[in-house]
Amino acid sequence: MPIWNERVAVSEFSSTFTRQFTMENKLNGISLYIHLPFCESLCTYCGCNKKITTNHSVEDDYISAIIKEWNLYRSLMDDTPVIRELHLGGGTPTFFSANNLDRLLSAIFKTSVIHKQHEFSFEGHPNNTTEAHLETLYGLGFRRLSLGVQDNDPEVQRIINRIQPVENVRRVTDAARNIGYTSVNYDLIYGLPLQSVESITQTIQQTILSKPDRIAFYSYAHVPWTSKGQRLFDEHDLPSADEKLKLYQKGKEIFIEHGYCDIGMDHFALPTDDLYEASITGHLHRNFMGYTTQHTNILIGLGVSSISSTGNSFSQNAKTIHNYYDHIKNDVLPVEKGYFLNDEDIRFGKYILDISCRGKTTIEKVDWDIVEELCLSELLELEKDGLIILNGFEIQVTATGKSFTRNICSALDLYLQKNKINTGKRIFSNAI
Ligand SMILES: C[S@@+](CC[C@H](N)C(=O)[O-])C[C@H]1O[C@@H](n2cnc3c(N)ncnc32)[C@H](O)[C@@H]1O
Ligand code: SF4
Repeated sequence: MPIWNERVAVSEFSSTFTRQFTMENKLNGISLYIHLPFCESLCTYCGCNKKITTNHSVEDDYISAIIKEWNLYRSLMDDTPVIRELHLGGGTPTFFSANNLDRLLSAIFKTSVIHKQHEFSFEGHPNNTTEAHLETLYGLGFRRLSLGVQDNDPEVQRIINRIQPVENVRRVTDAARNIGYTSVNYDLIYGLPLQSVESITQTIQQTILSKPDRIAFYSYAHVPWTSKGQRLFDEHDLPSADEKLKLYQKGKEIFIEHGYCDIGMDHFALPTDDLYEASITGHLHRNFMGYTTQHTNILIGLGVSSISSTGNSFSQNAKTIHNYYDHIKNDVLPVEKGYFLNDEDIRFGKYILDISCRGKTTIEKVDWDIVEELCLSELLELEKDGLIILNGFEIQVTATGKSFTRNICSALDLYLQKNKINTGKRIFSNAI
């Protein structure tokens, strides 16, 4: 939980970026995240940064702005970038025509080298992902796709304003596999209004018939103060905390019964998927895009609201399209907030990464005092609940604890812990 600094100097970021890029590019390559914010209709539960419009003439300007942002980053690089990981997220990337996605990516690839072991993925909406999208992106090196399924129940779909016949999900999945995509992920959410154990059981039974290679089973995040669409349904229709836990447990039980492995942090994967292999061999990594099998320290986030990181800093782009365009028009990186990590941040970031990717960590001696002061009481509670085993300053997540990985990571989040002490609040994360 970094504390963003609203008054960051873009020049300071630019020089940090250049320094880190020079050290990292040849060694590990870089990751790219591109945020494509437009959607044709509003799903009322949605917590993402998106812009609803049916006017597709917005595509051209946005693609041109991203290419310009990429070129601003290119001017900070002293060598040709080696792209190892690339993810198109949103919003809805498949709102854009296949031709426009081709224009965007071809412009970026023209000035880069693609890493031998690259991993390219995109988020597709089952209602508007076409064969042309799948073919074009496959031709550009994409082998992974993630489909937003959420829930198949007609009543739930009605209340979340996302009418999406299960046939659409199957059509896109089958088409992707025929073309040669090797990993299909489905996003599901538990805790949505009107969901019941019966309805979610049916959604999950239907889901596993298509054998997605990965499943992200997200806890519904209710944040009506930032996501105004969530005010459109009655809070009484939301499951209680107890009911929500039952929804999660039911889902997990069915996934495990059908051969899925719990990777942690809401993610399940078939043993044939790379993510599982990486979780077993200790090569799993996590960044702002989620779990990955690639490990790069430089992540360039292009587009409105995207987050970038250099290993020792984070930055976030302008959150509104209007402000984003303003920066780009003036030939300046659209960075609006940022944070420079100190040595302690970097060590605690590593402990949290170890817990979320490898299920264990060892606290270095230099941090023992601060852990005792800020984290120990919460760690002891987690141990009492059977979620971790503490052996001195070694922390091991138990099998039960895997479902509570977020809570365990929160116990090591110094900013969160300091904030709790300052505000007198014991915020036990509602990770489930
Ligand atoms: C940015 S969306 C992109 C997917 C694409 N636009 C679609 O809807 O199919 C990525 C995922 O975030 C998840 N998501 C969005 N809002 C959420 C919320 N309030 N709580 C939990 N997960 C959420 C959904 O599962 C969604 O598929
Ligand atoms: S869930 Fe996807 S399609 Fe729906 S509003 Fe959010 S980003 Fe757009």
